[in-house]
Amino acid sequence: MGEHKRIGILTSGGDCAGLNPVIRAVVRRAVGTYGWEVLGICRATQGLMQHPPQVLLLDMDSVDPLLTHGGTFLGTTNQGDPFAFPMPDGTVTDRSGEIVDNYHKLGLNALIGIGGDGSIAILSRLAKQGGFNFVAIPKTIDNDVDLTERAIGFDTAVNIATEALDRLHFTAASHSRVMILEVMGRDAGHIAIAAGIAGGADVILIPEIPYTIENICQKIWQRQQQGKNYCLIIVSEAVRTEDGERVTSTNALSQSRYGGVGQYLADRISVCSGAETRVTVLGHIQRGGTPSPLDRLTASAFGVAAVDLIAEGHYDRMVSWQERQVVSVPISEAISHYRVVDAEDTLVKTARGLGICLGD
Ligand code: F6P
Repeated sequence: MGEHKRIGILTSGGDCAGLNPVIRAVVRRAVGTYGWEVLGICRATQGLMQHPPQVLLLDMDSVDPLLTHGGTFLGTTNQGDPFAFPMPDGTVTDRSGEIVDNYHKLGLNALIGIGGDGSIAILSRLAKQGGFNFVAIPKTIDNDVDLTERAIGFDTAVNIATEALDRLHFTAASHSRVMILEVMGRDAGHIAIAAGIAGGADVILIPEIPYTIENICQKIWQRQQQGKNYCLIIVSEAVRTEDGERVTSTNALSQSRYGGVGQYLADRISVCSGAETRVTVLGHIQRGGTPSPLDRLTASAFGVAAVDLIAEGHYDRMVSWQERQVVSVPISEAISHYRVVDAEDTLVKTARGLGICLGD
């Protein structure tokens, strides 16, 4: 059984489906198998900046219903880097020392952090500074964490985007329209290429492959000649204009984020092709809802493996899915690259093989 341990767990960065199942898996393995204590830290590192720290003791009963729940019941944030934390007076301050102090005050033997590449990098830096034991679990709908074929949340997002295309198909055909679906993914086109193939898109546009409006219109005309007066286009949010400009929207607080490339394309395509166009921006719907079976499986496998790494005394590692197995990789290697869609990717080849237009 080994020595008794008290471990912490937190979810950091944007939420996604599968976070609650991974918390459940960690508790079942750590409490159920090893008899350890698990403290859930609220709102990522922000829970460790509170005095006293905001934590919940997690037992088997408290995580029992979590397998099918979206989001994260511990809460999360994708703002507030603790090394440059924005203070109410407008200044930024390094609050990493408070986090390290609270980690030690809680008497934790190890921390499991569930996050994307940015969160994992911050948590790993904190662990090095504070001399604590850290294990990472990759999650992100963007699926852009390197050295793992899967990150928690991606599969559910692809299912949702695929279902959106399925629904758009019928209304597109009924009205002879060009329907554009804008999906998330940050600077990587993994969601668009996967959902585009699965949902039968005619055109898939991803940030990694340059396109021209002319090529898209050629596809629309080609379909018209085949008697198909509608067209389904899926586009990643980070696809740029034809001239290479980023398309972003800015809110009243001057915060800028991706958004709007679908409408940009619709305007250009309708002028160039004469087709009637409509745009659907899927947004945060991709992050919500019930985790897919594959995300539940990945979360369960990653949660168990992360606890086992701690039991074996292996730290500074990220659990990873590679060639049908859960393995672990050094965190420094996992975060040194950002995984985008490769031009030689199987899905790119598949799309081309199916006659899907990638815009180039
Ligand atoms: O990284 C996950 C993600 O959903 C991206 O796909 C998207 O660009 C971003 O987060 C949205 O962030 P926010 O929730 O802050 O709007």
